[in-house]
Amino acid sequence: MTERLEDIAIAMVAEGKGLLAADESSGTIKKRFDTIGLASTEENRRDYREMLFRSEDAMKNYISGVILYDETIRQNAADGTPLTEIIKQTGGIPGIKVDAGAKPLAGFPGETITEGLDGLRERLAEYYGLGARFAKWRGVISISDGLPSWGAVKQNAQALARYAALCQEANIVPIVEPEVLMDGKPGDHSIDRCYEVTEWVLKTVFAELYDARVVLEGMILKPNMVIDGKNARKASVEEVAEKTVRCLKSTVPATVPGIAFLSGGQSDEEATAHLSAMNAAFDMPWKLTFSYGRALQAAALKAWGGKPENVAAGQRAFAHRARMNALAATGGWKE
Ligand code: 13P
Repeated sequence: MTERLEDIAIAMVAEGKGLLAADESSGTIKKRFDTIGLASTEENRRDYREMLFRSEDAMKNYISGVILYDETIRQNAADGTPLTEIIKQTGGIPGIKVDAGAKPLAGFPGETITEGLDGLRERLAEYYGLGARFAKWRGVISISDGLPSWGAVKQNAQALARYAALCQEANIVPIVEPEVLMDGKPGDHSIDRCYEVTEWVLKTVFAELYDARVVLEGMILKPNMVIDGKNARKASVEEVAEKTVRCLKSTVPATVPGIAFLSGGQSDEEATAHLSAMNAAFDMPWKLTFSYGRALQAAALKAWGGKPENVAAGQRAFAHRARMNALAATGGWKE
C-alpha cells in the first residue's frame, strides 16, 4: 500500500519533533571534517552518520526524519545494516537531497540556479525503492546591492515547482527550500531587507507551485528565518520571531501542513531560541519546526572528533541539541 503524501507530510512535522538535515554533499562534508582535522573518506562519512542515526534516544523522541545524501542512502552500517534501516527502526522517515547544487546562472552575474531536473523522474523512482519518502531541493538567493534580480528569483522558483510536481508524481513529499542566505557576500544587509526579499521569494514560489499543480497538503516548506545578514547588527530574538512569523503568515497558505526552518549559519543557541520564541508567542495555521544541519550537528561533530572512543560523547551532544530544538518546536525551550 502506498502511504498518502498528506500523511507523510504530517508525520514529518509531528508534535515536538523535527528533521535532521544530514545531506551534506561530498564537498560540504569535507569542509565540516576539515574543522576536526579528519579526512573525508567514505568510511569516515559512514561512521559519522552511523553515530548520529544510532543515537537512539534522540532519534526516537525528537527526530521525525533524516535528509540523506545519495551516498548515504546506499550505505550500510559497520555491521552491514543499511543506514536507512537504522533510521526506520527509530521510527524516523528517510529522505533524500535530489538537487545537484547551485550553479552560476547564465546572464546573471553573481546569481545561481539550482540544477538537477534532468532525469529526476527516474532518480525519484530509484530513491523510492531505496526507502525515501520525502526529498529536498534547495534554491539559493543571495542579497547584495541591487540583487537578487527578478530573473533569478523567478527561475529558482520555477525549478522548485517542477521538482515538487515530479516528487508528488513519485509519491514522495517535496521539501521546498528557497534559502535567502544570511551568510552570503557581503552579508551586511538588514533584517528589513531580508524580510522584503524573503516575502518576494515566497510569494513567487507559491505562485509557481500553483501553476505547477503542486498539492500544498503534500509538501513541507523549508525557509530561512527573517534575520540580519551575518555581518550586520543582530536583531533581538523577539524581533526575529515577530518578523519571521509575519512574513510567513503573509505568504504561506494555511493548507501547507508544516514549515521546517534551515539554520543557515545561526549559532546553535540562536536557532533554538528563535524557533521557541515563535512557537511560544504566536498562533499559526501550520506546524513550525526545525530541519537543521549545522545547528543540530556542530556540537556532536566536535565532541566526536573522528575518534571511536568519543562516539558516546558525540551522541550525547547530538541528543542535547535535538532535545533543545524539540522543546523549541512546542515553544517550551528556556535558556
Ligand atoms: P543548515 O541548517 O546548516 O543551514 O542546513 C540545512 C540544510 O539542509 C540546508 O540546505
